[in-house]
Amino acid sequence: MPPLQPGTWLLTGGAGYIGAHVIRSLQGAGHEVVVVDDLSTGVRRKIPADVAFVRADVSDRVAMTRVLASHAVTGVVHLAAKKAVGESVEHPLDYYRHNVDGAVALAEAMVDVGVRNVVYSSSAAVYGDIDVDLVTEQSATVPVSPYGQTKLIGEWVFQDAAVAHGLSCVALRYFNVAGAGGDDLGDTGAFNLVPLALRAVAQGVRPQVFGADYPTPDGTCVRDYIHVADLAEAHAAAAEAAASAPSGGFVAYNIGRGVGASVLEVMAQVSRAVGRDIDAEVVGRRPGDPARIVGSVAAARDGLGWIGERDLGDMVTSAWSAWQAYPPT
Ligand code: WQD
Repeated sequence: MPPLQPGTWLLTGGAGYIGAHVIRSLQGAGHEVVVVDDLSTGVRRKIPADVAFVRADVSDRVAMTRVLASHAVTGVVHLAAKKAVGESVEHPLDYYRHNVDGAVALAEAMVDVGVRNVVYSSSAAVYGDIDVDLVTEQSATVPVSPYGQTKLIGEWVFQDAAVAHGLSCVALRYFNVAGAGGDDLGDTGAFNLVPLALRAVAQGVRPQVFGADYPTPDGTCVRDYIHVADLAEAHAAAAEAAASAPSGGFVAYNIGRGVGASVLEVMAQVSRAVGRDIDAEVVGRRPGDPARIVGSVAAARDGLGWIGERDLGDMVTSAWSAWQAYPPT
């Protein structure tokens, strides 16, 4: 695949935990970046001073058309979305409004302006509670949360827009993202295992293990953890793939490491990173958690020339370093 000529990419959600890393990976690949973010959860300081920023709601078609028309962009990397599984169960309509309306409005704006290439942030949540050793991109997609459903619908939006209007889309199905590519880029959210464990440690309380009676080697849930810096690099590869693919194309890739790690294994890494036994407490199961979900990453390796290089220790160590440098308020 010939290297993509440097261009300008519009990045939605660039003020977020993952988006801030994607800015830097696109810049590292020689591209200019324009960020659109409504700052509802994003952090303005995470957008470098040399990056153009437009505060807007991605579901505002007029605003998105204006942004695309005023910046001659090579394509769009679409990350802006709500992503908390539990919250999506309590407030499903907010998730459909943000995640589905946002995808539709962005696709309409792209067609309006004639922007062809899009990298779409999807999720392993599209697979739902799947019982296979390794999930492939051909595995059944049966989401079990409104969040997962909105992510799958977003894939359909861009796939059908690609066929009908000549877009070229690469969807990335994120597995469990963790770590920090720099001390100023940590995950300060309150929804996922590693930041929740670090928060508990910082508060001097015991981190909680949601169930230890699953059919897994140590009884706790197994997930496929991927370093956010590796994930960000996958976006640069996906941008190149979208721009060099024929019009009307859609392809989805699992973005993980193809390696499972249990909750207890993550807790052991946290103990190592903080230098003491964090004495995690086993409590009841969290509803809706599959026992195991680990992705095959052969397609991303072969199709994008990408693999995740960093291991679980890198993820937890970098997350703890960032947490100490920038303690969430
Ligand atoms: C991981 C495991 C919990 C907190 C994530 C994202 C979702 C999607 C897919 C991107 C589970 C357990 C958690 C705690 C615990 N990624 N846990 N104690 O549910 O696998 O989904 O990956 O789109 O957005 O949410 O991630 O970090 O919530 O949980 O025992 O305090 O850790 O039960 O088994 P999950 P998670």
